[in-house]
This record gives sequence, C-alpha cells and structure tokens, in this order.
Amino acid sequence: MINVLFAALDVRWDEYRLPLKQAFEEAGLDVDLRQDFPPADVDYIVYAPNSPLQDFTPYTRTKAVLNLWAGVEAITGNETLTQPLARMVDDGLTDGMIEWVTGHVLRHHLGMDAHIHGLQGDWQHVAPPLARDRSVTVLGLGELGSACAQMLSSLNFNVTGWSRHPKDIKGITCLAGETGLIQALSTAEIVILLLPLTPQTENMLNAETLAEMPKGAVILNPGRGALIDDDALLSALDSGQIGHATLDVFRVEPLPKDHAYWSHPNVTVTPHIASETRAPSASRVIAENIRRGEAGEPFLHLVDRSAGY
Ligand SMILES: NC(=O)c1ccc[n+]([C@@H]2O[C@H](COP(=O)([O-])OP(=O)(O)OC[C@H]3O[C@@H](n4cnc5c(N)ncnc54)[C@H](OP(=O)(O)O)[C@@H]3O)[C@@H](O)[C@H]2O)c1
Repeated sequence: MINVLFAALDVRWDEYRLPLKQAFEEAGLDVDLRQDFPPADVDYIVYAPNSPLQDFTPYTRTKAVLNLWAGVEAITGNETLTQPLARMVDDGLTDGMIEWVTGHVLRHHLGMDAHIHGLQGDWQHVAPPLARDRSVTVLGLGELGSACAQMLSSLNFNVTGWSRHPKDIKGITCLAGETGLIQALSTAEIVILLLPLTPQTENMLNAETLAEMPKGAVILNPGRGALIDDDALLSALDSGQIGHATLDVFRVEPLPKDHAYWSHPNVTVTPHIASETRAPSASRVIAENIRRGEAGEPFLHLVDRSAGY
C-alpha cells in the first residue's frame, strides 16, 4: 500500500479526491489517499503551496512532493523541503492558457474594444492589419509559452519568443539571453509574459525595458504579478508608451479594491483565471509520477531548485 498525503485546501480535496482515486486505479497503484497521516508514514505528498503544511522535516520517508500548481515560487525557497519536487504540467492547464492568450491577443489585434463599446454613429472604416503583419513576443518558452507561441504562429502572427536557453521552435523566432530580450521587446506590438517568478525574472518589465517596446504596445501578463514593476507600468500607460495591459496576476491577490489597476482606463483585470489545473488530467499526471517513483524511473517535471523553476 502506498500512502499519499493530500496537502492542499479542503476545497481542493472535494475536487480531487475522486479523480485521484480513479487515476491511481487506472495506473494500477494500490494507494491509501488521505488528508492526514503520521508524517513518518507518508510516501508521496500531493501539494499546493497555500497548504498549512510548510515544514517537511518530519516527512522522512517521503519520496516526492507533487505540486498541483505550475508555479513553484512559493515553495522553491523552503529549506525544509529536501525531497524531489515536481511541478504541474497538465494538458488541461496548457489548453486553458492557449485559449486565454489567443482570445486576448485577438481582442487587441482586431481592435474589438472600439466596436464593443460602440462607435455611436461615427462610421470609421478602419480595417485591422492581418496577423501576418502583427508582431507578437512571448517571454518564456516553456510548457505554456511555447504552446501559446505555436498557436499564435498557426494563426499567422509574426511570433518571437524568448527564453533562458537558446531554442529552435518551428515558425518562431527564438531569442535568448540579455541582448535577446531587448531584441524581442523592440518588435513587440503585443507581449505575453509566461515566465516563472524567480530572482532573475522579478521586475523583468521595468521603466527601462518598457521603453524598449514600440510606442502603444500591449502587455498580457498571465505569468506572475511581480514580473512587472507596477509603478513603471502605470507611468508607461499614462504616457501612452504602453497602450493597454491585460493583467491576470498580481503581487497581492485578490488585487486590493483600491489598486490603481482597477480603475485605469487602459488596464483590463482578470482575476487569476487565465488557466487552472484540471482535476481529471492533473490526477493522471500525479498518478504517473507515483508509478514512476515506485518503478524506480525518473520523475516527470522536476523543479530545478537552483534555477527556481
Ligand atoms: N495565470 C495563470 O492562471 C497561470 C497558470 C499556470 C501557470 N502560470 C504561470 O506561468 C509560468 C510559466 O509556466 P510554464 O509551465 O510554461 O513554465 P516552464 O515550463 O518552467 O517555462 C518557463 C520558461 O521561462 C524561461 N525562463 C525562466 N527564467 C528565465 C530567465 N531568467 N530569462 C529568460 N527566460 C527564462 C524558461 O527558459 P528555459 O526554457 O531556457 O529554461 C522557460 O522557457 C508559471 O511559472 C506560472 O507562474 C500562470
């Protein structure tokens, strides 16, 4: 019998209990899944960083901590965690992000706002450019960024992507490193942030980098709030250097009611809904990792703790 501790909020237990049990059965795993075990009896921990469990020291026989979230910035610095940490890569999460990003890119590309708000009798015959004449940059070419970049490329957008290590992705101009960032931003009429939050990526968009973008550029941030220097973004929005920012993630969530983003005419706030881990598909990912652990095979989606993602 494999003892699996579910260490996430109660609301997630209601959502995951049955899909996890089904996924374990399908994987042929004999699992005792509970919200409570004596720590020394736990083989695997299914984890969310907002769980009350923050001290991993007593979990002496635990073989891996399996995160339900893609983002791991809230756990990578936890020095009590010495076990392997896997993050969530789930096709439901990826599909959701592709849909959010594509929808918001098309909104800005087609200039839909003007028509949704109504032209009020002012017949302006201005056709939007074609996607092939629109440059879009995706910062971060990991699971989510590369999937979004490929979808946008398949819609004919001129897509540039930027990552830490050089990449070769068909149809995407791939750049890397510090000089690559400036080049990637210099053409970015629409930029999408899909970087993890690490000490290196915090405030990646700041007064200096925002100034590198074409005037009136649009920012979509479904990555993490702290990737952007908020004061610098608000100034760039006020000066017109940035035309619009569609933000899904914030330094403080829920975004405080008096935050300037709520009332800024050129900011769209979505409440961290760009993409969600989907219980049925995520449960299969967790089950596969436990199967691997039991078979002595390498775990999938391991976090590089030194890189922070
Ligand atoms: N809003 C939402 O609902 C939601 C949902 C899920 C995830 N997210 C966010 O999306 C982020 C990305 O997820 P993912 O699964 O795509 O992550 P991932 O697979 O780990 O990809 C991260 C990408 O960022 C690049 N990167 C990291 N540090 C960098 C640096 N210093 N300079 C340049 N590039 C850097 C990586 O480069 P290399 O490829 O060279 O390593 C990689 O391409 C998550 O960390 C999370 O914060 C948000």
